[in-house]
Amino acid sequence: MGENYQAKTLGIIGGGQLGRMVIQSAINYNVDIHILDPDPNAPCKDIAQKFVHGKLTDFEAVYNFGKDCDVITIEIEHVNTEALTQLEKEGKKVFPQPHIIKLIQDKREQKQFYLKNNIPTAEFILTDNKDEVQSHVAFLPAVNKLGKEGYDGRGVQVIRSEADLDKAFDAPSLLEKLVDFEKEIAVIVARNERGEMKAFPPVECVFHPVANLVEFLFSPAEISEAIHTKAIDTAQAVMEKLDMIGLLAVEMFVTRGGDILVNEIAPRPHNSEHHTIEANFTSQFEQHLRAVMNMPLGDTGIRSAAAMVNLLGEDGYTGEALVEGLDEALSEKGIHIHLYGKKITKPFRKMGHVTILEEDIDELKNKAKRFKNLIKIKT
Ligand SMILES: Nc1ncnc2c1ncn2[C@@H]1O[C@H](COP(=O)(O)OP(=O)(O)OP(=O)(O)O)[C@@H](O)[C@H]1O
Ligand SMILES: [Mg+2]
Repeated sequence: MGENYQAKTLGIIGGGQLGRMVIQSAINYNVDIHILDPDPNAPCKDIAQKFVHGKLTDFEAVYNFGKDCDVITIEIEHVNTEALTQLEKEGKKVFPQPHIIKLIQDKREQKQFYLKNNIPTAEFILTDNKDEVQSHVAFLPAVNKLGKEGYDGRGVQVIRSEADLDKAFDAPSLLEKLVDFEKEIAVIVARNERGEMKAFPPVECVFHPVANLVEFLFSPAEISEAIHTKAIDTAQAVMEKLDMIGLLAVEMFVTRGGDILVNEIAPRPHNSEHHTIEANFTSQFEQHLRAVMNMPLGDTGIRSAAAMVNLLGEDGYTGEALVEGLDEALSEKGIHIHLYGKKITKPFRKMGHVTILEEDIDELKNKAKRFKNLIKIKT
């Protein structure tokens, strides 16, 4: 008798690079993938068994798409959760569960969830409009974050002093204490219906100062054994308190005092773990598949120290994308190029990534910088 995950259809809401890399794993297990995406040229378009063109926030589009699938998951959290709840009621497996996606869609709900469940997080105040933010001068320096629909740093404003208060959001948002962190790290946890739970070792994220995107990623994070353990325990506690099935990325700050504060969570594969394709025994994309299809979870151990560099559209170029520096990169050992199939580049658009495997940490850092400067996406 075969296992119950074979011959099942998995629907993914969203057909960008994350879905594309899940499909690359799913092919090995004969799992059929259906994709819903509003972009007729989405990265998953030509590699899904079925590609449905539709808006992710539209009830009918999501509901009708899900009816043909056995299991439904997401690669972006801005989706219609009412449709997913309806599908769940009708007996479809929807992982992550719709009520959890809904909670995560709103950073205000996330923060209250941490507070209620004793998950360490930076102190905050909820604000409903600009005037309200401006009344909290004594709370500065702080970070003002939109409750909903912020991503890739849009929807986040640092408000250091009174002079910055003009940048405050005039919408439901939160004001969070500016954390003087030593590092930003992330831990990804997977959990399946069998009750298995596994975390990937913490990674270190270095952000682009202007674009607010992960610029470099290093694995493993250079942290003490104590912080390593604390980070994994914290991420697993979030997963258990949510009682979630699927893959959860937990972004955290390591404070100068050695504490861990949860920044935010994402219930899906995450930009900080792309290196796991080559650098760990199981990739985050395969682990996501295994978690939602109720397969045994894979070993998360590290095969090699690694760095990941996002290939962002070069500033000042919009149009048909051309990749510079590929030949030189391909002639080196341990360099793995991933292009996402996006024909059009725009400034800072995520067009691909490079993973660099290198055991010597200093050399790894040098190579990460070198390849970031070598490979450029222009027109
Ligand atoms: N309280 C804080 N103190 C200091 N820096 C912060 C704080 N909150 C956020 N940041 C900085 O801003 C970045 C973006 O914030 P956050 O992760 O909340 O936004 P986002 O737009 O949802 O992010 P993503 O890029 O993950 O989509 C963080 O990674 C961190 O560098
Ligand atoms: Mg973030």
